[in-house]
Amino acid sequence: MVSERARSVDSFLAMDVLERANEREDVVHLEVGEPDFDPPEAVFDAAVDSLRGGNTGYTVARGKPELRRAIAARYDRDYGVAVDPDRIVVTPGSSPGLLLALATLVDPGDEVVLTDPHYASYPKFVRFLNGVVRTVPLRASEGFRPRAAEYDRTVGPDTSALVVNSPANPTGAVLDGETLGAVASVADAADATVVSDEIYHGLSYGAAERTMLEFTDEAFVLDGFSKRYGMTGWRLGWVVAPPGYAEAVNRLAQHVLISAPNFVQDAGVAALATDESWLADVRDTYRRRRDRLLDAVADWGLDPDYAPEGAYYVLADVSGLPGSSVDVADLFLEEAGVAVTPGADFGERASDYVRLSYATDEAAIDEAATRIDRLLDRLG
Ligand SMILES: Cc1ncc(COP(=O)(O)O)c(C=O)c1O
Repeated sequence: MVSERARSVDSFLAMDVLERANEREDVVHLEVGEPDFDPPEAVFDAAVDSLRGGNTGYTVARGKPELRRAIAARYDRDYGVAVDPDRIVVTPGSSPGLLLALATLVDPGDEVVLTDPHYASYPKFVRFLNGVVRTVPLRASEGFRPRAAEYDRTVGPDTSALVVNSPANPTGAVLDGETLGAVASVADAADATVVSDEIYHGLSYGAAERTMLEFTDEAFVLDGFSKRYGMTGWRLGWVVAPPGYAEAVNRLAQHVLISAPNFVQDAGVAALATDESWLADVRDTYRRRRDRLLDAVADWGLDPDYAPEGAYYVLADVSGLPGSSVDVADLFLEEAGVAVTPGADFGERASDYVRLSYATDEAAIDEAATRIDRLLDRLG
């Protein structure tokens, strides 16, 4: 019999839609958050050289020292924050890093504060660890940015972690320093730890990006190579642990992960050395696509009434269409051949929306715009 713990984990609706969309021909894919570009050539060269050089075995679980040093140097360069490389554990993508971080914090019955909407995996991980989810509500009218006072109201004696995500999936909201600092203070006063998911750092289109490490050392920070460098399938990420937690994360990593792929870690060092102008071009491309997709969503009459400032997602407000966000996603796929993710994946407060990813080219965005336009005309 499948365990209760495993049964408590619902499927990832974005992945379910992808599976169904892949069974059909001629689908425009706006459902998954996967960059459509390759990392710089130097990253391929580093991976191939390392692979040919025989770096195909395990590494130490916490990751190669040169990669951990390069990650630490990036915090210094980009944010002026000193991070001891001993606090960094390299992981195969940030997802297992998130599970390990929460596993070192959450005992059964502990509360974890998320925002609503939130990234789909957060509550699944909390429930998997027999923790209890509490949520801070976000509102489109406030750009889906949290009010610090709501955190104050939501934490309690059993709170062990507060999870923040900026730039955010699915809303694209970017949190300013004042908000991050306020969350750090609430966590400190509640004797809880912040878990800051910074996987979309580098993909903001105007708003300044701040790392939680500027405000507190008592934070887990998750980041990686998937989004910024177009390296989703390379599976490489990292955890910065608060002082005193890195050894616990490392012990779990030794058993669960053994190590991130050896030669991919060398590619990671090359990725971190990428010229800033390369990333600036990527950002310009995304900014153009975001504006195009926002125009299309407004033309459909599904305007979400706020401007996403980062990551690569736009929410479309489908509360005026018949059925749930799952029904609307079905309708878009079956009747228009456009795959989108139901908001239901991201919490109750996202259930009036479907999420569209603009990590795809402008021709695909235009085609989706035409198809949905026709469908909505047909529906009257
Ligand atoms: C907010 C957020 N965190 C983490 C991840 C996981 O990324 P990866 O495991 O590829 O690093 C994703 C992927 O979509 C995400 O959107």
